[in-house]
Amino acid sequence: MRRKMCGIAGYIGDKKAPIILFEMLKRLEYRGYDSAGIACISKGRIIVSKDKGRVDDVRKKINFKKVPASVGIAHNRWATHGIPSHENSHPHQDCSKNFAVVHNGIIENYKDLKEELLQLGHKFRSGTDTEVIPHLIEEFYKEKKNFEYSFVNAIRKLRGSFAIAAISSNESDRILVARKESPLMIGIGKGENFIASDMPAIIPYTRNVIVLDDFDYGILGRDSVQLKDIQTGDELKRDIQRVSWGLEEARKEGYEHFMLKEIFEEPDAVRNALKGADEAERIASKLAEYKRIYLVACGTASYAGMVGRYLLERFGISADAITASEFRYSTINILDEKTAVILISQSGETADTIASAKGAREKGAYLAAVVNVVGSTLTRISDDVIYTYSGPEIAVASTKAYIGQLVSLTLIALFLAMERERITREYTNEILDDLNGIPDKIQSILHEEREIKRLAQRLARKNIFFYIGRRLGYPTALEGALKIKEISYVHAEAYPAGELKHGPLALLEKGVPVIAITPNDDLLEKMESNIEEAKARGATILTVGESGELNVPITDSLLTPITYIVPLHLLAYYISTAKGFDPDKPRNLAKSVTVE
Ligand code: G6P
Repeated sequence: MRRKMCGIAGYIGDKKAPIILFEMLKRLEYRGYDSAGIACISKGRIIVSKDKGRVDDVRKKINFKKVPASVGIAHNRWATHGIPSHENSHPHQDCSKNFAVVHNGIIENYKDLKEELLQLGHKFRSGTDTEVIPHLIEEFYKEKKNFEYSFVNAIRKLRGSFAIAAISSNESDRILVARKESPLMIGIGKGENFIASDMPAIIPYTRNVIVLDDFDYGILGRDSVQLKDIQTGDELKRDIQRVSWGLEEARKEGYEHFMLKEIFEEPDAVRNALKGADEAERIASKLAEYKRIYLVACGTASYAGMVGRYLLERFGISADAITASEFRYSTINILDEKTAVILISQSGETADTIASAKGAREKGAYLAAVVNVVGSTLTRISDDVIYTYSGPEIAVASTKAYIGQLVSLTLIALFLAMERERITREYTNEILDDLNGIPDKIQSILHEEREIKRLAQRLARKNIFFYIGRRLGYPTALEGALKIKEISYVHAEAYPAGELKHGPLALLEKGVPVIAITPNDDLLEKMESNIEEAKARGATILTVGESGELNVPITDSLLTPITYIVPLHLLAYYISTAKGFDPDKPRNLAKSVTVE
């Protein structure tokens, strides 16, 4: 089923809610940019302003003076149920227009609920699943004139996943929220409170945050936050976390795009991930007890998983890397309590990765997570977590978080190999020393930015790319190809170099770029023969290597995935900008795929 991932926000205080809500939406835009909208309570009435399009475009259409409100909710949407349109934009309302609701997730039983509501005489305006929620609230409000009662009873009827916020013109001193399987957090301010799907929307206003758990619902007033259990109605206590991320980190700091800023943060991503060494050692000592290890993730993170697998195999440890959307439906069947699963995710909210974790948990497997976002769902369902500490990653295509994942997995692989007595403490220390030198090496690659940009401008006219690599170079090829596909909209394929002859060679002709990952190791000669084969068909070869067109400093071959991807991230970025695209917001893609 196609599902939606969206951003939701809310504000209650004494400031101008519409202005704050649009600022918050702007920081959540990476979660969806098909439409934006707000609903505020002004003079006892709910005023909804919404439309399809990006946050800035929708904001321009609003006369803020006409909405003197200090309570409101907001949403930006990534369309699935229903095309991007004004009607399908959130917030949605009931028939009486006394309620407004924003929602991220999917209501799986919305068709049945809609049918029931239609029979009760409700009129629907949109094609969304969400619209059943305000109508349900309206229905329960008829029973007992109480917003909280109506809200929680409506929520209890929903199947599926949701993060929901609702307001009512009858009780304008509160926002009600609820969460199941979609992220939602509350920012606690002084005389004001906030809600959002993610931290960057909250941290400009307050660093004190409560992350809701599944089946929590909350009642936010200006000076109060009350949390309760959706099923039992019992009051809950949740810790207030102090978030250390600064707003500057979530801003572009003068870079033209977040993606470029984040690529330039790759040296720091290595330094920060190295801070997880103790955790890696602890996880490795547990992993040593397990017979089988799976590395499970989606997208870019799944290529980090592949690197993890090759590293472990290098040390004679059996491991498999499987994409989460396949793992959850197939590999899951062979899991037992002798299995360990390493889940890798920047956001910690990716639906397939979370479903894999939950499935593996049911089978009794040990779960270790490599995650960037502190407090995310995946961190709560795993036995152990190693954070990459990469800081907020805003560009849709992952770059620095990938580097962080590679470092965390390298640490785990090293410590596990040591536990299993495959390598010595001395050897491990040697590699750790080399790892400490990687940030400078990445920095020297970033210094070549201008040359890479020139190369990208030359390549921008090509409409097909091949990436080839062997062993640890293969996931690098895959990640290089994925990046260029995602943000430049050209066809790019990655192959294990040995597979060239089994198909792709037929597509090679004069001028087709073949990007070859050529670390200086025992497979270099094999790579060189593959390059010759491609050259003989007229392909334009670009090598990533110690003396390649894309130059990387000498590095221990174990660590080459961390350095060799850096020029390819820059290349993809500059090909995208040379073609006039916005690399931060690739069409049809979203940063957090919180739904299947
Ligand atoms: C989306 C993003 C990718 C990311 C993938 C997995 O496809 O566009 O950049 O690699 O999700 O996300 P995660 O947060 O689990 O690492």
